[in-house]
Amino acid sequence: MFTVYVASRDELRNALTVAVKNIPEAILNGSSSDLRQALEECAAEVPGVLLIDDALLAQNIGLFEKVAEVPYPVVVLAAPADAQAARRALTIRAKDFISLDRWAEDLGPILSRVAVPIQGETREDGRVLVVFSSKGGVGKTTIAVNLAIGLAKASHQPVAIMDLDIQFGDVAPMVGDAPLVTLYDLVKSGAPVDAEMLKRALKRVANNVYMLAAPENPEEADDVRAEHIVQILQLLRETHAYVVVDTAPGYTDVNVAAFDFADTILTACTPDVVTLRTVGQALQVFYDGFHYPKDKVRIVLNRSGSRTGVETADIAQVLQSPIAYQLPSDGAFPVRAANEGHPLLLQFPDSALSRAIYSMASELVRETQGRSRQESKKTSAKRTLFARLTGRKPKEV
Ligand SMILES: Nc1ncnc2c1ncn2[C@@H]1O[C@H](COP(=O)(O)OP(=O)(O)OP(=O)(O)O)[C@@H](O)[C@H]1O
Ligand SMILES: [Mg+2]
Repeated sequence: MFTVYVASRDELRNALTVAVKNIPEAILNGSSSDLRQALEECAAEVPGVLLIDDALLAQNIGLFEKVAEVPYPVVVLAAPADAQAARRALTIRAKDFISLDRWAEDLGPILSRVAVPIQGETREDGRVLVVFSSKGGVGKTTIAVNLAIGLAKASHQPVAIMDLDIQFGDVAPMVGDAPLVTLYDLVKSGAPVDAEMLKRALKRVANNVYMLAAPENPEEADDVRAEHIVQILQLLRETHAYVVVDTAPGYTDVNVAAFDFADTILTACTPDVVTLRTVGQALQVFYDGFHYPKDKVRIVLNRSGSRTGVETADIAQVLQSPIAYQLPSDGAFPVRAANEGHPLLLQFPDSALSRAIYSMASELVRETQGRSRQESKKTSAKRTLFARLTGRKPKEV
């Protein structure tokens, strides 16, 4: 999978963006008919490849130097026998060249070859983090949404957030989105989940963050089965560095499928006796019932430091587990952010909870990146722009 940004004159923009969306392994990051704006957006969220229409280049000679220095590959779309266009493409150090007269056929193969894949060169499966609690209302969705954003910010890699609160999911409203396609659309036929459909169902909700929304109506949840969850998580982790799953309380088949699949289960609790009692029982199920390794399940203490009369040290003792992450109470900020449909970490990045979630995300990224990574295999022959323009044979790299 790779991401694409399209910078093109208005007349072509729609056709190009539709064509990019139809390339199976491509995700459209954005498009603009203003080259300066395109470069700004690509600086904020680096694409796997930038496609530039030569008509924009011809109008923006002053930007050539800037384009030549971008850290991602650039492909130019231009008329085939236009010597000036070829010179412009060379000046901006484009990696390849697509002929205007046959762009519909060449677009997919050329972008696929040139683009940097989503997970850099490793293509290692992403890390699946399930946010769970045996109790409702402890902050699962707040943690899941903002953790996904924090992970994307800290890692500069794509992150998926999947809403597995299948009856009353509220990830979409928390990010200000009313999705057209949900988990239900992926599973309703009963057939195995299709990778293409999943790609279309993912909605970009922030830089590098892609959401799979929960079904819209509670009755649609009946059609979601455990095997769907396994299929979806497998596909999501192939294309995202991190997959964050929000859940509803309970040991339903669907939840258990996600727990089994998870690399890490973040069990949220708050410092009150009733919640701690149920969380203690949940931990027993994880350890004694499911025999998960100790490190798979981590405690996240939300609203830590609230004056509830229950001390943090006592909580670790009662749960017989260390508290891995502590998140402070943040007054009205989380509610205000949710009401406005703009995630806390973007709306109030300096609030106490935002800072704590970002530091938790950074810690998880450091830990993940510290794990051994597969050697990338660069086997494909690449053709340079020069070779394509001059018709020389591909050069092995
Ligand atoms: N650390 C915090 N400080 C202040 N408010 C918080 C904090 N964490 C969560 N909240 C608020 O608590 C409420 C419940 O949070 P949230 O919806 O994330 O919980 P949940 O566990 O997902 O609930 P449910 O079980 O209903 O899905 C929300 O209004 C949220 O804004
Ligand atoms: Mg929730």
